[in-house]
Amino acid sequence: MKIAGESSRSIWLEEDGWTVGIFDQRRLPWALERMCLRTADDAFYAIADMATRGAPLIGAVAAYGLALALRVDGGDAALEAAFARLATARPTAINLFWALERVRRVVAPLASDERAAAAYAEAARLCDEDVAVNRAIGDAGLPLIREIARAKGGAPVNILTHCNAGWLATVDWGTATAPLYRAHDEGIGLHVWVDETRPRNQGALTAFELAEHGVPHSLIVDNAGGLLMQQGQVDMVIVGTDRVTANGDVCNKIGTYLKALAAQAHGVPFYVALPSGTYDPATPDGGSVPIEERSGDEVCFITGPDDAGVPTRVRVTGSPAHNPAFDITPTALVTGYVTEAGLLAGPADLARMFALSTEKV
Ligand code: MRU
Repeated sequence: MKIAGESSRSIWLEEDGWTVGIFDQRRLPWALERMCLRTADDAFYAIADMATRGAPLIGAVAAYGLALALRVDGGDAALEAAFARLATARPTAINLFWALERVRRVVAPLASDERAAAAYAEAARLCDEDVAVNRAIGDAGLPLIREIARAKGGAPVNILTHCNAGWLATVDWGTATAPLYRAHDEGIGLHVWVDETRPRNQGALTAFELAEHGVPHSLIVDNAGGLLMQQGQVDMVIVGTDRVTANGDVCNKIGTYLKALAAQAHGVPFYVALPSGTYDPATPDGGSVPIEERSGDEVCFITGPDDAGVPTRVRVTGSPAHNPAFDITPTALVTGYVTEAGLLAGPADLARMFALSTEKV
């Protein structure tokens, strides 16, 4: 996708061929700053501190993090130590563990001096696949939007999304945003309601992306969606996910569940954009997913540039705060899963998709 007018992925290798480049998402949308990751620890902190974020991108950064570690020491102990460290960077998005396992599976049988190159190659493959998967999610979601546009006689389709499941959360295209970009590029009239997504305001990232791509949108506070659905101003909801469990429950950014409940109450279709790397058949249901609890400071303070453009942190409350970062939307509230294998209806379809995607790896 384009950022500041230039095509870019959200992760790349620098000219030296081994340093990993990312955008510092803590500074977006105010400033476009690139960051260099030169050690596995750099990758760990980038993930833990949310300089990089979004389930698929966290997986890609972790994969390169293992490569960075093996570049220094390709031995078994170093491999296991780096794996264990990176695996604790954040707890909820399954892609982190999926990507680490995938790289370890490839490098473990190799001699220690062959492992770094193999890890870099596997990380690059994983990134390329992420781009292809998201494009396929775009293909699968496009007909849903096209059909609503047809039923509305060409009037703009109003789509609500929560958090940022855009290209900044993936390697390119995004998951939930891929169908939106495809529809917009095809000339279908769209308007996107972008949930602010307190406390980390990932909605500002989604709005930034949509603006870069010229997609009409409005940022709304997290509590506005119910009213808009009640007023008939939402034609469909599409969100990303950090983990979908064996029974089809959807773990996603805190606030997703309330949107799904409102959507059901108002007969608005609720879709989940799901790449196979985010499917977790080993976890039976949403109740078994570890929900990340982040610092209460994220609730108590807001950060942004002051009038002079200087990044400023402002306290909004002195009260104690509780800050769970994700919630669970039961599968019963999901109209369909938009995947690289097409639109899937429920857990049985997901299991079949997973069987196919493991054959691929
Ligand atoms: O805490 P984050 O920003 O890493 O959360 C991840 C997300 O962006 C979402 O919840 C998203 O919808 C899934 S990632 C495509």
